[in-house]
Amino acid sequence: MAKYSGGTGAIAQSWKNQPIATSVLRLWLGLTWVYAGWNKATDAGFLNQASPHYIGAQLAGYLKTSPISFILRRMIEHAQLIGWGTMVIEFVIGFAILAGFSMQLMSLAGFGLSAVLWLSATWSVKPYFLGSDTAYMVLWAALFFLVRDAAKGKRNSSVISDLTERRNFVRLVGVGVAGIAASLAGTKFRARVATPEAGSSITTVASFPVGSTMSFTAADGSPAVLFRTAAGVFAYSAICTHQGCTVAYDSGSHLLACPCHGAQFDPSKNAAVVQGPAQSPLASIKVAIKGANIVQI
Ligand code: FES
Repeated sequence: MAKYSGGTGAIAQSWKNQPIATSVLRLWLGLTWVYAGWNKATDAGFLNQASPHYIGAQLAGYLKTSPISFILRRMIEHAQLIGWGTMVIEFVIGFAILAGFSMQLMSLAGFGLSAVLWLSATWSVKPYFLGSDTAYMVLWAALFFLVRDAAKGKRNSSVISDLTERRNFVRLVGVGVAGIAASLAGTKFRARVATPEAGSSITTVASFPVGSTMSFTAADGSPAVLFRTAAGVFAYSAICTHQGCTVAYDSGSHLLACPCHGAQFDPSKNAAVVQGPAQSPLASIKVAIKGANIVQI
């Protein structure tokens, strides 16, 4: 058994005497997971409720197709926490795999996260091989079996000891701290989210004919929905008056629907509540046609 040399020595040691297949999988999966965490940390829209790629909006978008929509619906209420958690876990798995820490446990964690992403984000991708999450599940499973077989007969080399053995636990705390630090560091590189000032154009009249609906970011940076009917233009805040989830326009029912607890609002009746648990209508946002543009006033 290789002598434990601690610190960077242990990391370097973990790359020696392993099959080339293990090296390839560790390098690819480790770097990709670190990049996935960094990509989210530096995305100005990922945790911004007004952005179309806000984590809550992404989760709401998966509800119609995902077989685990009953779980995702509960996650939307805690979208910020889920976003931070996903980011940190991706960093932790990536760092741990590159460093050679608790690799059986981390491979299973990577498999689990890929499975959740498959059941939510890429479930509707057809044929299945066009979505990457199933491929990642297979890569994580392959790494798990490679690492498990290489560890057979060694002391403290099970999934359980990956978590409970003192040295492994201390290392996991270390990569956990590194994951949080990397997430916070990534936020410093976020591009500033541009919020339109009152009076600036939301869209042009020509590109927004009667009968149109669109989401936009209000002057205060919050999500909003714009409508144009024969009577003119009007807009509402997209923040649900129940517990603050982001509502979306359902072209089938012609209502603004909240994905969290099912509240519905009728945009043709001043966004009045059609279905609870919300008690009050959505806030109205003043908009008007000014020349060739539609503006918030
Ligand atoms: S937040 Fe509960 S129904 Fe919208």
